[in-house]
Amino acid sequence: MKTPRVTARAHTNIALVKYWGKRDEDLIIPMNGSLSLTLDEFYTETTVQFDSKQQTDHLILDGVTQPTTRVTPFLDIIRNQAGITAGAAVISTNHVPTAAGLASSASAYAALAAAASKAAGLTLNRQALSRLARRGSGSATRSVFGGFVEWQAGTNDATSYAVPIDEHPTWPIRMVTVVVDRAEKKIGSRAGMQTVVKTSPFYQEWVKKAQADLAAIKPAIAAHDIQQTGAIAESNAMAMHALNLTATPHFTYFTAGSLTAMHCVEELRAKGIPCYYTMDAGPNVKVLCEEQHVTAILTALQAHFDKNDLLVAHPGPGVQIIRED
Ligand code: PMV
Repeated sequence: MKTPRVTARAHTNIALVKYWGKRDEDLIIPMNGSLSLTLDEFYTETTVQFDSKQQTDHLILDGVTQPTTRVTPFLDIIRNQAGITAGAAVISTNHVPTAAGLASSASAYAALAAAASKAAGLTLNRQALSRLARRGSGSATRSVFGGFVEWQAGTNDATSYAVPIDEHPTWPIRMVTVVVDRAEKKIGSRAGMQTVVKTSPFYQEWVKKAQADLAAIKPAIAAHDIQQTGAIAESNAMAMHALNLTATPHFTYFTAGSLTAMHCVEELRAKGIPCYYTMDAGPNVKVLCEEQHVTAILTALQAHFDKNDLLVAHPGPGVQIIRED
């Protein structure tokens, strides 16, 4: 017997206050709360159907069959909750303007959580969906919601989930992505944060700083204060990346291109244009700014980067079911 075929769409998000370290590896409970902006430009669409005649799961990602090593344990959580044992067919497509290396586990697991839970017959509210997405990838916890989103760290499965801060911001906030490198990252976020938690002598200081940044950025966002919001986000990102340099073995996601982009943003700022950078577990640089300064920022970045490697995103929506048949 086959369940309905359900398709969900989820957008990626970029953290302004980062998650970088787990308190519980299995349940993915973070050491600190985090806060992100969901983006309209990059999203994943995933279709799921369970079939009781199928013993194993099958995954096609962007048209190519992939191993289900990470997806099967995630689907097992849903099968357990729904009381089914059927295998699933999962078809997932990442929508990014170019092969920009921006496909993210955040949009992937938020879309998979929504499509698979619905196909399995579960009716989950958004808090439950956020907790479920968390089990696939930490950052997916936040992609359940649109706009500005806080992931409340919590201490266990029941208390660790995201909440919307401002789902439909009237603030004309933008995120310019500088595609520095399209290659797959060498050190995945899972391994990177594990090394840092275990070995950085500054880890506890990071947790304190992230908590303080989280408390400070919320009123800055509410006030639509780009200087404050941007300064906190940039400082938080640099603290996260500094941790990586203090781990054993030390590592970094910075490349020469990342530094070029960051210097360019600093020069723009010196000229009075409020723009601020952040980076995740890869070399690409994201620039937070307001709509009115996008053109000036793109012009300056175009001196160093190809036009096609500069992508402008607006705030995006939370996860949605887009088809069911
Ligand atoms: O959820 P993961 O395993 O992709 O980890 C995300 C980690 C960062 O992107 C660097 C920070 C964050 O909060 O999204």
